[in-house]
Amino acid sequence: MTLKCMELREFIARVGEDRALKALSSFSVKRNPDVESFIRNNAVAYEKSDNARTYLVMTENIDILGYFSLALSVVDIPPGISKAMMKKMRGYGRYSADSVSCYLVGQLARDDNASHNDLMMRDFIDFAIEYAMAAKQYVGGRFLLVDCVDELVDLYERHDFSKIDKTANLNQLVMFLS
Ligand SMILES: CC(C)(COP(=O)(O)OP(=O)(O)OC[C@H]1O[C@@H](n2cnc3c(N)ncnc32)[C@H](O)[C@@H]1OP(=O)(O)O)[C@@H](O)C(=O)NCCC(=O)NCCS
Repeated sequence: MTLKCMELREFIARVGEDRALKALSSFSVKRNPDVESFIRNNAVAYEKSDNARTYLVMTENIDILGYFSLALSVVDIPPGISKAMMKKMRGYGRYSADSVSCYLVGQLARDDNASHNDLMMRDFIDFAIEYAMAAKQYVGGRFLLVDCVDELVDLYERHDFSKIDKTANLNQLVMFLS
C-alpha cells in the first residue's frame, strides 16, 4: 500500500474543520488512551497555537491510518549516561550544557482499525525523520526525542533510538539526525 503523510493543517484546509474534527473523533487507540485523546481532543488546538505539528498518515484515498506529532522540546542531559553520549547530545562547543534542545515525537499511533501490514513503526519513523530533517536544515537541531513505556523500548531501539534515561514510568530515547 502506498502511504502518504499530510500535515493536519492541510487536511483541515482540504476538508474543512468540521469534517476534519469528525474524522479525528473516531480515531481509536485502545492500548493508549492518552494518544487517542490527543488526536480526538487536542491536536487541532495544538496546531492552531503552534505548540505542535500533527501529521496524518493515510492511504492515497485519504483514509487516516495513523498519526504522529512533532514539537520543539528541551531535554535534561541525564547524569548517568556515557561521556560519548553526553558529548553527542551537547554537540560542538556546548561542553557544560545541562540541557539541550531537540525535536519531540510527542504522540504516535496507528488507528485500531488498521493493521501492522498497513502501517508500521518504520513508516512513522521515516516520515518523522523527513520532517525533522527539513526543520534541521533551517534552524539546526541534533536529535529526535521520544518518551515511551517499557514495552516499546525494544521497538524504538530497533529503529535507531538509544535509551538515555527512565523517568517515572517512561523511558527517554533519542535518535540523532544525520
Ligand atoms: C507503536 C505502533 C505504531 C507500532 O506498530 P508496529 O510497528 O506495527 O508494532 P506492533 O504494533 O506489533 O507493536 C510492537 C510491540 O509493542 C507492543 N505495544 C505496542 N503499543 C503498546 C502499548 N501502548 N503498550 C504496551 N505494549 C505496546 C505490541 O503489543 C507489540 O508487542 P509484541 O512484539 O510482544 O507482540 C503501534 O503498536 C501502536 O500504534 N501502538 C499504540 C499507540 C502507542 O502506544 N503509542 C505510543 C508510542 S510512544
